[in-house]
Amino acid sequence: MTDYVRVAADGGVLTVTLNRADKKNALNNAMYGALADALARAETDTAIRVVLIESEGPDFTTGNDLGDFAAVAAGTLRREDMNSGKFLAALARADKPLVAAVPGLAVGVGVTMLLHCDLSFVAEDAKLSTPFCNLGLVPEAASSLLLQARIGYAHAYKMFALGEAMDGKTAAQIGLVTAAVPMAEVRATALAAAKKLAAKPIGALRATKRLMRDAQLIQATMNKEGEIFGARLQTPEAAEAFKAFAERRAPDFSRFS
Ligand code: COA
Repeated sequence: MTDYVRVAADGGVLTVTLNRADKKNALNNAMYGALADALARAETDTAIRVVLIESEGPDFTTGNDLGDFAAVAAGTLRREDMNSGKFLAALARADKPLVAAVPGLAVGVGVTMLLHCDLSFVAEDAKLSTPFCNLGLVPEAASSLLLQARIGYAHAYKMFALGEAMDGKTAAQIGLVTAAVPMAEVRATALAAAKKLAAKPIGALRATKRLMRDAQLIQATMNKEGEIFGARLQTPEAAEAFKAFAERRAPDFSRFS
């Protein structure tokens, strides 16, 4: 149990709210566990027809808690005890519709989880980034496959390798998300869309999603990425990136060849 994720069911919509605003909703291990549990509940509870993922405060999430990454790198948190894999597997398996509301910052898994959401609404000036290479890491959540499927190699490589933020308007224009709306309307727009979906025939929605997504390929891609990601967490490049974040300075990768 964690207070950092709130879960509430209403009228067929299971709303999952990231609630760690003082850390920009960075996802720690307990939060990943709660997210995985919420998705598992949605799959088995017949009263739930749609899952809405949203956040408290101005940001969506700045991605994985870098303190947890540093702990894995230092050997104080075992990779097999991390719940992120459970969450990703639940995303891969999910066949009920997932809707996301992104009011502001979305970093790392904050973006890659959107690739598993069927409708995603972002603020026009939201900032979306996937700075995996900046951290000495590689893409996860099957994003090495799904991001380029949505926006093409050129945009996808730029996002992964340069790690620069893309605004919400651009993300909508290039098809990364469903639509960009004014920040004040993001949550209401996403909730209205979730309610609309909840009124549709759920059997048809689930069958459509299964046709449009190859869950086995997605899981296989996650496994392949996970192996490399795990190895990358132990590299001096990643150690320098995590240390630089903790010390609030720019990383220096010049000594690594
Ligand atoms: N992991 C751990 N803590 C995080 C975090 C993360 N991913 N993102 C933000 N925080 C924490 C900060 O350490 C800070 O905590 P503090 O108040 O105890 O010092 C707090 O949240 C506010 O963030 P801060 O960095 O002060 O905000 P900012 O506006 O100056 O910068 C970012 C925003 C997104 C540029 C910066 O927080 C950042 O780079 N975060 C890491 C993003 C990232 O690399 N995620 C992993 C992707 S795989």
